[in-house]
Amino acid sequence: MQFSEILLNKLKHANKVAVLTGAGISSESGVPTFRDPGGIWEKFKPEELANFDAFIRNPDFVWSWYQHRREIMRNVKPNQGHYALAEMEKLFNEFNLITQNIDNLHCRAGSREITELHGNIERNYCIKCNTFADEINIIQNKVLKCEKCGGLVRPDVVWFGEMLPVKELQHAEHSAANCDVFFTIGTSAEVYPAAMLPLIAKRNGAYVVEINVKPTAITFEINESITGKSGIILNQLVKCITEIKLLNSN
Ligand code: APR
Repeated sequence: MQFSEILLNKLKHANKVAVLTGAGISSESGVPTFRDPGGIWEKFKPEELANFDAFIRNPDFVWSWYQHRREIMRNVKPNQGHYALAEMEKLFNEFNLITQNIDNLHCRAGSREITELHGNIERNYCIKCNTFADEINIIQNKVLKCEKCGGLVRPDVVWFGEMLPVKELQHAEHSAANCDVFFTIGTSAEVYPAAMLPLIAKRNGAYVVEINVKPTAITFEINESITGKSGIILNQLVKCITEIKLLNSN
């Protein structure tokens, strides 16, 4: 696979790299995306599932849906795209992986510097006392009650209408505004504020590259688009960067 001279040159001299990933990077692991044909929002109504009012209205139903998604995540594995990003992290002085995904696959692939903008489906907390519930090994479809106060336990994911975690968003914005190269990978760039990050990076002088199987809402605003499956592209790209680094060091 050929990469552009400009991208390879930018990566050769890059000190700080930031990456934003979306559901597309996990699609090759068998995790459905949200807005592609057959995606999650085609089958389920987000307003009935992925928001606080829906949870209060019908906690067992919302809880069981997240249990169902947890089951899917536990039965899939990270793919070569996740592993490539875990490798890429070691190749730059500063590398920030910002993800919209709640599937925990970047962590399972070995990435360490992860900023989770939309939470993590493996974490759950009580809506009354905010105590985090232990690892949910009990696969149950009835909503969990907090052991400390008896309150309802919810997934630690950002629901529609909720604010993103402040610290994570600030860290993501800072990484985007101060990097040399920014990759936006497997995201439709339709959900804000995450979709702002590539534009913040571009505005602050970073070389912004999109990796996606098709154009997105921000394709026309960034520097370069690599069309194809993220797993294959990232696997090839990391091999290229490693060779460049090796040549550089001799
Ligand atoms: N490689 C690269 N890109 C891919 C691949 C692949 N193998 N498969 C799909 N894609 C791309 C699609 O073309 C699409 O642009 O991944 C993107 C998935 O877009 P969405 O389904 O909208 O997912 P995402 O962008 O992560 O959604 C953002 O919306 O509903 C909320 O909280 C949810 O975090 C999610 C947010």
